[in-house]
Amino acid sequence: MNVAVLGVGNRARKYLSSLPEGVCVSCLVEPEEIRLYQAAARFGVPEEACFSSADDFFSAPRPGIDAAIVAAPDRLHLPLALACVQRGWHVLLEKPVAENEEGYRMLMDAARSAGVHVGVCLEMRLHPYFKRIRELAASVGSISRIDHIEHIGPDRMAHTFVRGLWSQNEAAGPIFLSKCCHDADFLLWLTGAGTIDDVLSIGALEHFRSDFAPQGATARCIDCPLERECRYSAVDLYKRRGEWTSGFDVPEGQTLGEVIDRELQEGRYGRCVYYCDNNVFDTQTVTALLDGHLHLNMQLEGISKEEGRCTRILGSNGVLEADGGRITLKLNGCSEPLEEDYSALNNAPLHAGADAELVRDFFDSIARGHEPSATLSSAFPGHVLCYKAEL
Ligand SMILES: NC(=O)c1ccc[n+]([C@@H]2O[C@H](COP(=O)([O-])OP(=O)(O)OC[C@H]3O[C@@H](n4cnc5c(N)ncnc54)[C@H](O)[C@@H]3O)[C@@H](O)[C@H]2O)c1
Repeated sequence: MNVAVLGVGNRARKYLSSLPEGVCVSCLVEPEEIRLYQAAARFGVPEEACFSSADDFFSAPRPGIDAAIVAAPDRLHLPLALACVQRGWHVLLEKPVAENEEGYRMLMDAARSAGVHVGVCLEMRLHPYFKRIRELAASVGSISRIDHIEHIGPDRMAHTFVRGLWSQNEAAGPIFLSKCCHDADFLLWLTGAGTIDDVLSIGALEHFRSDFAPQGATARCIDCPLERECRYSAVDLYKRRGEWTSGFDVPEGQTLGEVIDRELQEGRYGRCVYYCDNNVFDTQTVTALLDGHLHLNMQLEGISKEEGRCTRILGSNGVLEADGGRITLKLNGCSEPLEEDYSALNNAPLHAGADAELVRDFFDSIARGHEPSATLSSAFPGHVLCYKAEL
């Protein structure tokens, strides 16, 4: 099976490291030269099959391609996926599928007409901890209420949504869509809810703004007198702890340390979190009524110290509580709750294997003709909730 990869960044590299046997990378499309040629060398893709522009790639027929992985920035998902589907290629598509419901429906129609599979990268469905929550939730009876909090965590929040590429609505879309479409998808998939009514959404940029900067903070961490005591220090994150560095490209002849030093001096990731150009919310609450009776309450929390997702599912037979690692199921009439601990998976690579499973499942769905784990139609309700939250 020959696959074209559009957008060879962090996500695509994870998927490419998990390709099943018999799947061959035949074309790469990536505007960043260093990424394009590093991936070409790694996967043995010839120069004539490497494109720095999607327009060039789509300007000619590309016979022999069976499928595409679309892992470009969010706003390009729809146009790139449409172009692939219209050529009759199956698509493994990063979330979010589209910026709005109209675009989403357009892609669903195009995929249906072309008779191709589109698998959406919603790996929470394949993560052992979340799979288990779904299995156990089946025993709480008729669900009347779900409370779910997503703590983004200080490092991810600072790196991605304050300093990084998802910090501006205009470039990346609203944070509830880009981040919580995973959670909305998982929860709606778990409930199997068909209708979404009365969506209320309240959000704000409460903390990561200049009026919250501690007195004396400077525009860059590297020369800030408060750097050692700041939880959001870029020097600490990238240099001392060496975390969140996989997106820094290291040109030949340079070291990662040199790249980090340059980034701290002049790049976007060296900026003080209180003096960035971010405008996406750092806190948001979305409440919806599902199927006329189920209250879903979701909270995005970008300011809290911890990272993780907490879920409480209340049903007619009992309640399930999950704190990001431990799952507790208390059924009515049972004195002993059932407890399971998945916290060992919290830092397991590739989303505890779910990313690799996603890729295997997608190519298997093509080979064997079954549906991928998250189809466009099954991922539609979760996206619609996000769209409604932003109206
Ligand atoms: N499923 C998940 O858990 C998950 C996690 C993180 C990110 N994502 C999503 O995956 C996508 C990629 O995220 P990432 O972290 O890899 O970002 P990234 O910036 O590392 O990768 C995106 C790549 O696309 C390239 N690109 C830009 N314009 C392009 C074009 N016109 N054609 C082809 N490529 C183009 C960029 O140069 C970059 O290399 C995003 O949509 C993001 O929301 C999903």
